[in-house]
Amino acid sequence: MKTVNKRTTKYPIDDIFLKRFSPRALSGEIIYKDELMTLFEAARWAPSASNTQPWRFIYVMRETPEFEKMISLMIPFNKDWCIRASVLVLVVSKNLLKDGKISVSHSFDTGAAWENLALQASMSGFIAHGMAGFNYATAKKEFNVPEDYSVEMMIAIGKPGKVAELPEPLQSRETPSDRKPLEEMVFEGKFPNMV
Ligand SMILES: Cc1cc2nc3c(=O)[nH]c(=O)nc-3n(C[C@H](O)[C@H](O)[C@H](O)COP(=O)(O)O)c2cc1C
Repeated sequence: MKTVNKRTTKYPIDDIFLKRFSPRALSGEIIYKDELMTLFEAARWAPSASNTQPWRFIYVMRETPEFEKMISLMIPFNKDWCIRASVLVLVVSKNLLKDGKISVSHSFDTGAAWENLALQASMSGFIAHGMAGFNYATAKKEFNVPEDYSVEMMIAIGKPGKVAELPEPLQSRETPSDRKPLEEMVFEGKFPNMV
């Protein structure tokens, strides 16, 4: 058992899993291209079915028209804090295999790449906060995503900012979250009967 970042485990794990979390207080400071590419490099090494690597990342830098365009796709809740992101990323994945068949694992594989990116961001002193609260159909159209790619999520990347600069309702949420106990997600032999 250990406690790191106000999170307590039942079994020993590396601190990195507890340190990574999703704050919303971002500073808006510049992130250099090499720093950003390090995060994508980590994503690149994720495992995927048959090594298909279906993930693709479209990034936009703060203070560019494309950044404003990405912000405009978000629900108001996300706009409120993403305005201080340094980089926004649209994550998409190729949903067809080479032979034209539908990939069963493109989203799952891309989830692994996202987590690699998030863990590297945390280790590099950045915040990488995932988002599903935006208009997927408009994102696909506005960012020129081909038909055989699915929009998966957005990521706000930045350096830690001041909690006091967040809108009031978001300030109290700026704390690491807990998780369900292992017993609710790990089953030996078969899925248990639900009551
Ligand atoms: C696919 C995905 C979508 C998410 N969508 C949003 C979102 O739209 N807005 C938001 O503020 N956080 C969003 N989150 C962040 C989650 O709420 C957060 O990861 C979760 O509460 C666990 O907290 P932690 O990342 O701090 O450990 C999203 C995370 C993921 C992985």
